[in-house]
Amino acid sequence: ASNTMWGGRFERGPAEIMERINASIDFDRKLYAQDIQGSKAHAQMLVATGILTNEDGASIAAGLDRVKAEIEQGSFAFRKDREDIHLNIEARLAELIGPAAGRLHTARSRNDQVATDFRLWVRDAIDRLSALTMGLVAALLDKAATHAEVIMPGFTHLQVAQPITFGHHLMAYVAMLERDLGRLRDARVRLNECPLGAAALAGTSFPIDRHLTAKALGFDRPTANSLDSVSSRDFALEYLAAASILGVHLSRLAEELVIWTSAQFRFVTLTDAFTTGSSIMPQKRNPDAAELSRAKVGRIIGALNTLLIVMKGLPLAYAKDMQEDKEPTFDAADAIELVVAAMAGMVADLTPNDVALHAAAGSGFSTATDLADWLVRTLNLPFREAHHVTGRIVKLAETRGITLDALSLADMQGIEPRISADVFAVLSVENSVASRVSFGGTAPSGVKTQIAAARARLGL
Ligand code: ARG
Repeated sequence: ASNTMWGGRFERGPAEIMERINASIDFDRKLYAQDIQGSKAHAQMLVATGILTNEDGASIAAGLDRVKAEIEQGSFAFRKDREDIHLNIEARLAELIGPAAGRLHTARSRNDQVATDFRLWVRDAIDRLSALTMGLVAALLDKAATHAEVIMPGFTHLQVAQPITFGHHLMAYVAMLERDLGRLRDARVRLNECPLGAAALAGTSFPIDRHLTAKALGFDRPTANSLDSVSSRDFALEYLAAASILGVHLSRLAEELVIWTSAQFRFVTLTDAFTTGSSIMPQKRNPDAAELSRAKVGRIIGALNTLLIVMKGLPLAYAKDMQEDKEPTFDAADAIELVVAAMAGMVADLTPNDVALHAAAGSGFSTATDLADWLVRTLNLPFREAHHVTGRIVKLAETRGITLDALSLADMQGIEPRISADVFAVLSVENSVASRVSFGGTAPSGVKTQIAAARARLGL
Protein backbone atom coordinates (compact mmCIF):
# COMPACT_ATOMS: atom_id res chain seq x y z
CA ALA A 1 0.00 0.00 0.00
CA SER A 2 1.06 3.52 -0.59
CA ASN A 3 1.88 5.96 2.21
CA THR A 4 -1.09 7.66 3.87
CA MET A 5 0.77 10.98 4.15
CA TRP A 6 1.89 11.31 0.54
CA GLY A 7 -0.33 8.68 -1.09
CA GLY A 8 -1.70 11.26 -3.51
CA ARG A 9 1.49 11.18 -5.52
CA PHE A 10 2.70 7.66 -4.74
CA GLU A 11 1.27 4.40 -6.04
CA ARG A 12 3.39 1.89 -4.19
CA GLY A 13 4.96 1.61 -0.77
CA PRO A 14 8.70 1.70 -0.17
CA ALA A 15 11.08 -1.23 -0.56
CA GLU A 16 11.76 -2.99 2.71
CA ILE A 17 15.32 -1.72 2.79
CA MET A 18 14.11 1.82 2.00
CA GLU A 19 11.83 1.69 5.02
CA ARG A 20 14.67 0.41 7.15
CA ILE A 21 17.16 3.09 6.22
CA ASN A 22 14.51 5.81 6.32
CA ALA A 23 12.74 5.08 9.59
CA SER A 24 13.91 6.94 12.66
CA ILE A 25 11.10 5.95 15.00
CA ASP A 26 13.32 3.58 16.98
CA PHE A 27 15.32 6.52 18.26
CA ASP A 28 13.31 9.70 17.67
CA ARG A 29 10.44 8.40 19.82
CA LYS A 30 12.50 10.05 22.55
CA LEU A 31 11.12 13.33 21.18
CA TYR A 32 7.47 12.46 21.76
CA ALA A 33 6.89 14.94 24.59
CA GLN A 34 8.54 17.79 22.69
CA ASP A 35 6.61 16.87 19.53
CA ILE A 36 3.30 16.99 21.33
CA GLN A 37 4.22 20.20 23.14
CA GLY A 38 5.20 21.78 19.80
CA SER A 39 2.02 20.58 18.08
CA LYS A 40 -0.20 21.92 20.84
CA ALA A 41 1.50 25.31 20.66
CA HIS A 42 1.16 25.31 16.87
CA ALA A 43 -2.55 24.38 16.99
CA GLN A 44 -3.21 27.02 19.63
CA MET A 45 -1.56 29.64 17.44
CA LEU A 46 -3.58 28.48 14.41
CA VAL A 47 -6.74 29.03 16.45
CA ALA A 48 -5.57 32.42 17.75
CA THR A 49 -4.88 33.59 14.20
CA GLY A 50 -8.21 32.29 12.89
CA ILE A 51 -6.62 29.67 10.65
CA LEU A 52 -8.19 26.85 12.65
CA THR A 53 -11.62 26.79 14.32
CA ASN A 54 -11.90 26.67 18.09
CA GLU A 55 -13.57 23.30 17.76
CA ASP A 56 -10.79 21.73 15.70
CA GLY A 57 -8.20 23.27 17.98
CA ALA A 58 -9.84 21.79 21.07
CA SER A 59 -10.23 18.39 19.47
CA ILE A 60 -6.57 18.38 18.37
CA ALA A 61 -5.38 19.38 21.84
CA ALA A 62 -7.47 16.71 23.55
CA GLY A 63 -6.36 14.11 21.01
CA LEU A 64 -2.70 14.99 21.53
CA ASP A 65 -3.14 14.60 25.28
CA ARG A 66 -4.58 11.13 24.69
CA VAL A 67 -1.67 10.21 22.42
CA LYS A 68 0.74 11.35 25.11
CA ALA A 69 -1.06 9.28 27.73
CA GLU A 70 -0.94 6.22 25.46
CA ILE A 71 2.80 6.65 24.94
CA GLU A 72 3.43 7.07 28.65
CA GLN A 73 1.27 4.09 29.54
CA GLY A 74 3.11 1.97 26.99
CA SER A 75 0.01 1.20 24.92
CA PHE A 76 1.05 3.29 21.90
CA ALA A 77 1.98 1.17 18.86
CA PHE A 78 5.09 2.72 17.33
CA ARG A 79 5.12 1.79 13.62
CA LYS A 80 8.16 1.70 11.37
CA ASP A 81 5.98 2.24 8.30
CA ARG A 82 5.06 5.58 9.88
CA GLU A 83 8.72 6.50 9.68
CA ASP A 84 9.27 8.89 12.54
CA ILE A 85 7.79 10.26 15.75
CA HIS A 86 6.03 13.11 13.93
CA LEU A 87 4.12 10.87 11.52
CA ASN A 88 3.45 8.24 14.19
CA ILE A 89 1.79 10.82 16.42
CA GLU A 90 -0.12 12.50 13.60
CA ALA A 91 -1.41 9.19 12.23
CA ARG A 92 -2.57 8.10 15.67
CA LEU A 93 -4.20 11.48 16.19
CA ALA A 94 -6.18 10.93 12.97
CA GLU A 95 -7.33 7.55 14.25
CA LEU A 96 -8.47 9.19 17.46
CA ILE A 97 -10.12 12.42 16.27
CA GLY A 98 -10.69 11.96 12.55
CA PRO A 99 -10.23 14.56 9.80
CA ALA A 100 -9.45 17.49 12.13
CA ALA A 101 -6.05 15.87 12.68
CA GLY A 102 -5.23 16.64 9.06
CA ARG A 103 -5.53 20.37 9.78
CA LEU A 104 -2.74 20.36 12.37
CA HIS A 105 -0.06 20.33 9.68
CA THR A 106 -1.33 23.62 8.16
CA ALA A 107 1.54 26.13 7.84
CA ARG A 108 4.02 23.58 9.14
CA SER A 109 6.44 21.01 7.78
CA ARG A 110 8.27 18.19 9.45
CA ASN A 111 11.39 20.25 8.77
CA ASP A 112 10.52 23.06 11.16
CA GLN A 113 8.73 20.57 13.39
CA VAL A 114 11.80 18.41 13.97
CA ALA A 115 14.07 21.44 14.33
CA THR A 116 11.74 22.72 17.07
CA ASP A 117 11.40 19.36 18.83
CA PHE A 118 15.14 18.82 18.82
CA ARG A 119 15.86 22.32 20.14
CA LEU A 120 13.41 21.72 22.98
CA TRP A 121 15.10 18.40 23.74
CA VAL A 122 18.63 19.84 23.67
CA ARG A 123 17.48 22.75 25.83
CA ASP A 124 16.31 20.29 28.48
CA ALA A 125 19.58 18.38 28.14
CA ILE A 126 21.52 21.61 28.73
CA ASP A 127 19.44 22.32 31.83
CA ARG A 128 19.92 18.80 33.19
CA LEU A 129 23.66 18.91 32.54
CA SER A 130 24.03 22.34 34.13
CA ALA A 131 22.22 21.17 37.27
CA LEU A 132 24.37 18.03 37.49
CA THR A 133 27.53 20.06 36.97
CA MET A 134 26.50 22.41 39.76
CA GLY A 135 26.16 19.35 41.99
CA LEU A 136 29.70 18.29 41.12
CA VAL A 137 31.02 21.79 41.74
CA ALA A 138 29.31 21.80 45.15
CA ALA A 139 30.96 18.47 46.01
CA LEU A 140 34.37 19.78 44.93
CA LEU A 141 33.94 22.96 46.96
CA ASP A 142 33.00 20.97 50.06
CA LYS A 143 36.03 18.67 49.69
CA ALA A 144 38.32 21.59 48.97
CA ALA A 145 37.08 23.45 52.06
CA THR A 146 37.47 20.43 54.32
CA HIS A 147 41.00 19.72 53.07
CA ALA A 148 42.21 23.23 52.25
CA GLU A 149 45.36 22.78 54.37
CA VAL A 150 46.34 19.25 53.36
CA ILE A 151 49.71 19.43 51.65
CA MET A 152 50.40 17.34 48.56
CA PRO A 153 52.90 17.43 45.73
CA GLY A 154 52.03 19.49 42.69
CA PHE A 155 53.25 17.92 39.48
CA THR A 156 54.45 18.95 36.07
CA HIS A 157 55.27 16.14 33.62
CA LEU A 158 53.89 13.94 36.43
CA GLN A 159 57.19 14.68 38.20
CA VAL A 160 57.03 16.32 41.63
CA ALA A 161 57.28 20.07 41.07
CA GLN A 162 56.28 22.13 44.14
CA PRO A 163 54.15 21.50 47.21
CA ILE A 164 50.53 22.57 46.87
CA THR A 165 47.39 22.01 48.90
CA PHE A 166 44.73 19.41 48.19
CA GLY A 167 42.10 22.15 48.29
CA HIS A 168 43.99 24.10 45.66
CA HIS A 169 44.15 21.08 43.37
CA LEU A 170 40.39 20.52 43.61
CA MET A 171 39.73 24.22 43.05
CA ALA A 172 41.51 23.94 39.69
CA TYR A 173 38.62 21.70 38.60
CA VAL A 174 36.08 24.14 40.01
CA ALA A 175 37.61 26.82 37.78
CA MET A 176 37.29 24.53 34.72
CA LEU A 177 33.72 23.57 35.58
CA GLU A 178 32.67 27.18 36.05
CA ARG A 179 33.77 27.82 32.47
CA ASP A 180 31.90 24.69 31.38
CA LEU A 181 28.77 26.05 33.04
CA GLY A 182 29.34 29.31 31.20
CA ARG A 183 29.62 27.49 27.87
CA LEU A 184 26.34 25.66 28.54
CA ARG A 185 24.68 28.94 29.50
CA ASP A 186 25.94 30.64 26.32
CA ALA A 187 24.83 27.73 24.15
CA ARG A 188 21.37 27.90 25.70
CA VAL A 189 21.04 31.61 24.92
CA ARG A 190 21.83 31.06 21.23
CA LEU A 191 19.68 27.93 21.04
CA ASN A 192 16.61 29.62 22.48
CA GLU A 193 14.97 30.81 19.26
CA CYS A 194 11.99 29.02 17.76
CA PRO A 195 12.15 27.57 14.22
CA LEU A 196 8.44 26.67 14.15
CA GLY A 197 6.66 28.41 11.31
CA ALA A 198 9.63 28.33 8.97
CA ALA A 199 7.60 25.51 7.36
CA ALA A 200 9.49 23.47 4.77
CA LEU A 201 12.09 26.16 4.11
CA ALA A 202 10.47 29.31 2.70
CA GLY A 203 7.95 30.30 5.37
CA THR A 204 4.22 30.16 4.72
CA SER A 205 1.44 32.14 3.06
CA PHE A 206 -0.85 31.60 6.07
CA PRO A 207 -1.11 34.55 8.47
CA ILE A 208 0.65 32.73 11.31
CA ASP A 209 2.08 34.36 14.43
CA ARG A 210 5.51 32.94 15.04
CA HIS A 211 6.01 35.13 18.09
CA LEU A 212 3.08 33.42 19.73
CA THR A 213 4.42 29.88 19.24
CA ALA A 214 7.89 30.98 20.26
CA LYS A 215 6.52 32.38 23.50
CA ALA A 216 4.30 29.38 24.19
CA LEU A 217 7.32 27.08 23.93
CA GLY A 218 9.52 29.21 26.18
CA PHE A 219 11.72 30.53 23.38
CA ASP A 220 12.96 34.13 23.50
CA ARG A 221 11.87 34.85 19.91
CA PRO A 222 11.33 33.17 16.54
CA THR A 223 14.39 32.42 14.40
CA ALA A 224 15.07 35.20 11.91
CA ASN A 225 15.53 33.24 8.68
CA SER A 226 13.35 30.37 7.54
CA LEU A 227 16.12 28.63 5.56
CA ASP A 228 18.52 28.75 8.50
CA SER A 229 15.73 27.53 10.79
CA VAL A 230 15.42 24.16 9.08
CA SER A 231 19.07 23.80 8.02
CA SER A 232 21.04 24.44 11.17
CA ARG A 233 22.09 22.15 13.94
CA ASP A 234 24.77 24.29 15.52
CA PHE A 235 22.64 24.41 18.68
CA ALA A 236 23.28 20.68 19.05
CA LEU A 237 26.92 21.07 18.03
CA GLU A 238 27.43 23.70 20.71
CA TYR A 239 25.86 21.45 23.31
CA LEU A 240 28.06 18.55 22.20
CA ALA A 241 31.14 20.79 22.15
CA ALA A 242 30.41 22.05 25.66
CA ALA A 243 29.76 18.48 26.81
CA SER A 244 33.00 17.32 25.15
CA ILE A 245 35.11 20.00 26.82
CA LEU A 246 33.44 19.28 30.16
CA GLY A 247 34.08 15.60 29.50
CA VAL A 248 37.75 16.25 28.76
CA HIS A 249 38.06 18.08 32.08
CA LEU A 250 36.40 15.24 33.95
CA SER A 251 38.51 12.63 32.18
CA ARG A 252 41.57 14.31 33.67
CA LEU A 253 40.09 14.20 37.16
CA ALA A 254 39.11 10.58 36.52
CA GLU A 255 42.66 9.78 35.46
CA GLU A 256 44.01 11.46 38.59
CA LEU A 257 41.69 9.37 40.73
CA VAL A 258 42.96 6.23 39.00
CA ILE A 259 46.54 7.26 39.69
CA TRP A 260 45.88 8.53 43.21
CA THR A 261 44.09 5.39 44.37
CA SER A 262 46.91 3.13 43.18
CA ALA A 263 49.07 1.36 45.76
CA GLN A 264 52.09 3.31 44.50
CA PHE A 265 50.46 6.66 45.28
CA ARG A 266 47.86 6.02 47.99
CA PHE A 267 46.92 9.70 47.80
CA VAL A 268 43.19 9.10 48.22
CA THR A 269 40.87 6.29 49.24
CA LEU A 270 37.51 5.50 47.70
CA THR A 271 35.05 3.46 49.75
CA ASP A 272 33.29 0.24 48.79
CA ALA A 273 30.57 2.40 47.25
CA PHE A 274 32.82 3.54 44.41
CA THR A 275 35.19 0.63 43.88
CA THR A 276 34.93 -2.97 42.74
CA GLY A 277 36.82 -6.07 43.73
CA SER A 278 38.47 -8.64 41.54
CA SER A 279 37.06 -12.10 40.89
CA ILE A 280 40.54 -13.62 41.27
CA MET A 281 42.73 -11.21 43.25
CA PRO A 282 41.27 -10.81 46.75
CA GLN A 283 43.33 -7.75 47.61
CA LYS A 284 42.01 -5.61 44.74
CA ARG A 285 39.97 -2.44 45.01
CA ASN A 286 39.55 -1.05 41.53
CA PRO A 287 38.39 2.49 40.64
CA ASP A 288 36.04 1.30 37.85
CA ALA A 289 33.76 4.32 37.97
CA ALA A 290 36.73 6.62 37.38
CA GLU A 291 37.98 4.44 34.53
CA LEU A 292 34.55 4.30 32.89
CA SER A 293 34.15 8.05 33.27
CA ARG A 294 37.50 8.48 31.55
CA ALA A 295 36.41 6.13 28.76
CA LYS A 296 32.88 7.42 28.21
CA VAL A 297 34.24 10.80 27.29
CA GLY A 298 35.38 9.12 24.08
CA ARG A 299 31.76 8.56 23.04
CA ILE A 300 30.93 12.21 23.71
CA ILE A 301 33.80 13.50 21.60
CA GLY A 302 32.82 10.89 19.01
CA ALA A 303 29.26 12.27 18.94
CA LEU A 304 30.53 15.80 18.36
CA ASN A 305 32.70 14.55 15.51
CA THR A 306 29.83 12.55 14.03
CA LEU A 307 27.49 15.52 13.89
CA LEU A 308 30.19 17.89 12.61
CA ILE A 309 30.87 15.46 9.79
CA VAL A 310 27.17 14.94 9.05
CA MET A 311 26.64 18.70 8.73
CA LYS A 312 29.82 19.46 6.83
CA GLY A 313 29.19 20.34 3.21
CA LEU A 314 25.38 19.96 3.33
CA PRO A 315 23.67 22.31 0.89
CA LEU A 316 20.74 24.38 2.23
CA ALA A 317 18.07 23.76 3.25
CA TYR A 318 16.92 20.53 4.94
CA ALA A 319 18.51 17.24 3.91
CA LYS A 320 17.66 13.84 5.36
CA ASP A 321 21.26 13.60 6.51
CA MET A 322 20.14 15.71 9.43
CA GLN A 323 18.04 12.87 10.79
CA GLU A 324 21.42 11.48 11.89
CA ASP A 325 21.75 14.30 14.40
CA LYS A 326 19.76 12.53 17.08
CA GLU A 327 21.39 9.23 17.98
CA PRO A 328 24.84 10.65 18.72
CA THR A 329 23.32 13.53 20.67
CA PHE A 330 21.09 11.26 22.76
CA ASP A 331 23.97 8.90 23.41
CA ALA A 332 26.33 11.72 24.36
CA ALA A 333 23.73 13.20 26.73
CA ASP A 334 23.32 9.86 28.51
CA ALA A 335 27.08 9.49 28.76
CA ILE A 336 27.94 12.98 30.02
CA GLU A 337 25.10 12.97 32.56
CA LEU A 338 26.30 9.64 33.89
CA VAL A 339 29.92 10.80 34.03
CA VAL A 340 29.14 14.05 35.87
CA ALA A 341 26.94 12.26 38.40
CA ALA A 342 29.55 9.53 38.94
CA MET A 343 32.32 12.09 39.40
CA ALA A 344 30.19 13.98 41.93
CA GLY A 345 29.66 10.72 43.79
CA MET A 346 33.38 9.89 43.77
CA VAL A 347 34.45 13.36 44.87
CA ALA A 348 32.05 13.22 47.83
CA ASP A 349 33.20 9.68 48.61
CA LEU A 350 36.96 10.16 48.54
CA THR A 351 39.21 10.70 51.54
CA PRO A 352 42.66 12.18 51.05
CA ASN A 353 45.43 10.31 52.82
CA ASP A 354 47.11 13.23 54.59
CA VAL A 355 50.21 11.31 55.67
CA ALA A 356 51.00 9.88 52.24
CA LEU A 357 50.28 13.22 50.58
CA HIS A 358 52.54 15.08 53.00
CA ALA A 359 55.38 12.58 52.56
CA ALA A 360 55.08 12.75 48.79
CA ALA A 361 54.98 16.55 48.96
CA GLY A 362 58.44 16.57 50.49
CA SER A 363 59.90 14.11 48.00
CA GLY A 364 61.66 14.99 44.78
CA PHE A 365 63.32 18.09 46.28
CA SER A 366 60.00 19.87 45.91
CA THR A 367 61.15 22.94 47.86
CA ALA A 368 64.15 23.57 45.60
CA THR A 369 62.36 26.61 44.12
CA ASP A 370 61.89 27.96 47.67
CA LEU A 371 65.63 27.61 48.24
CA ALA A 372 66.41 29.45 45.00
CA ASP A 373 63.90 32.18 45.94
CA TRP A 374 65.60 32.48 49.37
CA LEU A 375 68.97 32.99 47.68
CA VAL A 376 67.45 35.74 45.54
CA ARG A 377 65.70 37.41 48.46
CA THR A 378 68.46 37.10 51.07
CA LEU A 379 71.70 37.20 49.10
CA ASN A 380 70.33 39.25 46.21
CA LEU A 381 71.58 36.66 43.70
CA PRO A 382 70.14 36.94 40.19
CA PHE A 383 67.52 34.16 39.83
CA ARG A 384 69.53 32.31 37.19
CA GLU A 385 72.56 32.14 39.50
CA ALA A 386 70.37 31.11 42.43
CA HIS A 387 68.96 28.35 40.19
CA HIS A 388 72.50 27.13 39.51
CA VAL A 389 73.55 27.16 43.19
CA THR A 390 70.34 25.34 44.16
CA GLY A 391 70.97 22.79 41.44
CA ARG A 392 74.34 21.98 42.98
CA ILE A 393 72.76 21.65 46.44
CA VAL A 394 70.05 19.35 45.05
CA LYS A 395 72.73 17.27 43.38
CA LEU A 396 74.56 16.91 46.71
CA ALA A 397 71.39 15.80 48.51
CA GLU A 398 70.59 13.40 45.69
CA THR A 399 74.07 11.85 45.84
CA ARG A 400 73.64 11.32 49.57
CA GLY A 401 70.11 10.03 49.15
CA ILE A 402 68.59 12.58 51.54
CA THR A 403 66.10 15.44 51.37
CA LEU A 404 67.12 19.11 51.16
CA ASP A 405 66.28 19.89 54.79
CA ALA A 406 68.41 16.89 55.92
CA LEU A 407 71.58 18.56 54.60
CA SER A 408 73.68 20.34 57.22
CA LEU A 409 74.36 24.06 57.10
CA ALA A 410 78.02 23.23 56.48
CA ASP A 411 77.04 21.12 53.46
CA MET A 412 75.22 24.08 51.93
CA GLN A 413 77.91 26.57 52.85
CA GLY A 414 80.37 24.33 51.04
CA ILE A 415 78.50 25.36 47.89
CA GLU A 416 77.50 28.94 48.81
CA PRO A 417 79.34 30.25 51.92
CA ARG A 418 76.85 33.09 52.56
CA ILE A 419 73.94 30.70 53.27
CA SER A 420 72.75 31.08 56.89
CA ALA A 421 70.73 28.83 59.21
CA ASP A 422 67.43 30.64 58.56
CA VAL A 423 67.39 28.96 55.12
CA PHE A 424 65.91 25.88 56.79
CA ALA A 425 62.65 27.74 57.39
CA VAL A 426 61.85 27.78 53.68
CA LEU A 427 62.73 24.15 53.10
CA SER A 428 59.63 22.78 54.85
CA VAL A 429 56.59 22.06 52.70
CA GLU A 430 54.36 23.93 55.20
CA ASN A 431 56.33 27.13 54.79
CA SER A 432 56.53 26.59 51.07
CA VAL A 433 52.76 26.48 50.55
CA ALA A 434 52.11 29.18 53.16
CA SER A 435 54.42 31.51 51.26
CA ARG A 436 52.55 31.17 47.93
CA VAL A 437 50.22 34.08 48.70
CA SER A 438 50.15 35.59 45.21
CA PHE A 439 46.62 35.95 43.79
CA GLY A 440 45.32 32.52 42.78
CA GLY A 441 48.25 30.79 44.49
CA THR A 442 48.26 27.68 46.66
CA ALA A 443 48.61 29.19 50.17
CA PRO A 444 45.76 27.83 52.33
CA SER A 445 44.65 31.40 53.03
CA GLY A 446 44.36 32.03 49.28
CA VAL A 447 42.57 28.74 48.67
CA LYS A 448 39.99 29.65 51.29
CA THR A 449 39.49 32.97 49.54
CA GLN A 450 39.03 31.13 46.21
CA ILE A 451 36.45 28.82 47.77
CA ALA A 452 34.47 31.67 49.32
CA ALA A 453 34.53 33.63 46.06
CA ALA A 454 33.36 30.63 44.02
CA ARG A 455 30.56 29.92 46.48
CA ALA A 456 29.42 33.53 46.28
CA ARG A 457 29.54 33.54 42.46
CA LEU A 458 27.56 30.32 42.20
CA GLY A 459 25.20 30.95 45.09
CA LEU A 460 26.36 27.76 46.82
N1 ARG B 1 12.64 12.34 10.80
C1 ARG B 1 13.07 13.52 10.16
C2 ARG B 1 14.33 14.04 10.85
O1 ARG B 1 14.60 13.62 11.90
C3 ARG B 1 12.01 14.57 10.21
C4 ARG B 1 12.08 15.57 9.10
C5 ARG B 1 11.77 14.93 7.82
N2 ARG B 1 11.54 15.87 6.80
C6 ARG B 1 11.46 15.49 5.56
N3 ARG B 1 11.24 16.39 4.69
N4 ARG B 1 11.66 14.26 5.19
O2 ARG B 1 15.06 14.85 10.31
